[in-house]
Amino acid sequence: MGANTESAFSRFIASARRLFAEEKEAEKRWEKLKPLLRELLADPAVREQSKSWPECSHKERADNLLFYQDPDFGFVVNGLTKNPHTRTQIHDHAHNWTLYGVLDGTETIERYQRLDDGAKPDYAEVRQTSKLRVKPGDVDLVPPYQIHAEESGEVRTVAIIVRAEKAGGFLQGRYDPAAKKYWQGYGPRQIPYRLE
Ligand SMILES: [Fe+2]
Repeated sequence: MGANTESAFSRFIASARRLFAEEKEAEKRWEKLKPLLRELLADPAVREQSKSWPECSHKERADNLLFYQDPDFGFVVNGLTKNPHTRTQIHDHAHNWTLYGVLDGTETIERYQRLDDGAKPDYAEVRQTSKLRVKPGDVDLVPPYQIHAEESGEVRTVAIIVRAEKAGGFLQGRYDPAAKKYWQGYGPRQIPYRLE
């Protein structure tokens, strides 16, 4: 099983590296990454192996398992586990492109639109624009500054996330629609984890 997981993951990294070398335009690059991530998500050995991935805490800063950071292109591959009924804050990822792929379980992804112009400090008005149920194999592309939240359902969920750069070292936006509050915090803590 270990060898199979490694080969599916290695194939993904190799194809992602080819894509990053060929396609320099961010939006096209991330669109073209979708089918590559879907292929990884479809690998039964990867899903089986993810059952033993450790619990990620979801506090003010969540934990992300750090599987890989590319030495040349800088992109990273993260794993994220959520216990049933775990809800993230409403947040953005600042300038960082993110491709979020569901490996196991189902969850709900909410998207929000910002209504004010951002001129008033610590203040934001946001409105929910969509609420989408996602299942294993689904990928969600999160462009820079897109506002969103995720919530797991009845079962544990697992995601594989590809980010343009390692999160955690820069500030990202957080939103409280009821209080109309905006603040910033550092992104997910990166917990190195060896896939084997
Ligand atoms: Fe997010």
